[in-house]
Amino acid sequence: MKVAVIGGGNMGSAFAAGFLRENIVSPADLIVYEVNEDRRANLKTLLNCELRSAPGKELSDTVIIILAVKPQVFPDVIGDYMPFINADQLIVSIMAGCSVSYISEKLNGHTKIVRCMPNLAAQISEGVTVFFAPDAVSTDEKKLVKKLLDAAGESYAVNNEDLIDAATAVSSSGSGFVFYLFEHWMKAACELGFSEEMAQRLIAKTFSGAVKFWQEGDYTAEALRKMVTSKGGTTEAGLKVFNQRGLGESLVEGIKAAYKRAGELSQK
Ligand SMILES: NC(=O)c1ccc[n+]([C@@H]2O[C@H](COP(=O)([O-])OP(=O)(O)OC[C@H]3O[C@@H](n4cnc5c(N)ncnc54)[C@H](OP(=O)(O)O)[C@@H]3O)[C@@H](O)[C@H]2O)c1
Repeated sequence: MKVAVIGGGNMGSAFAAGFLRENIVSPADLIVYEVNEDRRANLKTLLNCELRSAPGKELSDTVIIILAVKPQVFPDVIGDYMPFINADQLIVSIMAGCSVSYISEKLNGHTKIVRCMPNLAAQISEGVTVFFAPDAVSTDEKKLVKKLLDAAGESYAVNNEDLIDAATAVSSSGSGFVFYLFEHWMKAACELGFSEEMAQRLIAKTFSGAVKFWQEGDYTAEALRKMVTSKGGTTEAGLKVFNQRGLGESLVEGIKAAYKRAGELSQK
């Protein structure tokens, strides 16, 4: 199965590397188009596949085309690729904020389009991607897309495109929200006397351990929170301040604000 990736930047190269690492696509069947010469030179050491600066008739032989350029350059970029794209090819977009209908319009009515929302950790194969495929995409094609996306972590299909905006808030901007928590946790830990290095280790392990506990057990987050909160104890003292200051509600509101903004920014 021949696969093309248009845009060999952070995300495009991460997915391409995943396809090769997981043996989903062979080096001879993968083409990465990257316009930036320096980046292409770097990719040569990372990816054992065909690297090109511009498309030619080889693109017409690919089965799947991954769109991994920035959304703002997409309308200009796609013109060069259009002569080599045909109706049978499956277009998989990871571009933020570009709806299926918008991509279809730019691709002269192409129907086989999958819209994906990956997140930062795709770059270290620990990402989570949510994807939506309209009816024009067959079940087998959806399975194939899932296999490709899983090369950068995990992926989940949704049957309502609006959930891509929700995923933008929850799992894509979500990385930023988690870093925001880390930032403040670090401040507290350092003010309490830990070095930055020690604070980072303690906080990272607290988070990864809590995630593992939550994922591997049968308890809800609320049940686990109650489990570690004893009456009159230290956790209760901390939670009391969080509740008084409305931290929980702020988190919910912040995530909803990101969802609303995703809708506003989306190219419909
Ligand atoms: N980064 C994330 O965490 C994240 C999360 C979710 C979704 N996304 C989406 O993923 C996509 C890629 O993001 P990114 O962070 O990987 O961006 P990026 O690092 O800027 O990668 C895009 C690459 O495409 C290249 N390019 C531009 N025009 C081209 C053309 N005509 N042909 C081939 N390549 C071309 C760019 O080169 P130049 O730099 O020279 O222009 C750049 O190297 C975006 O649409 C973004 O919305 C990213």
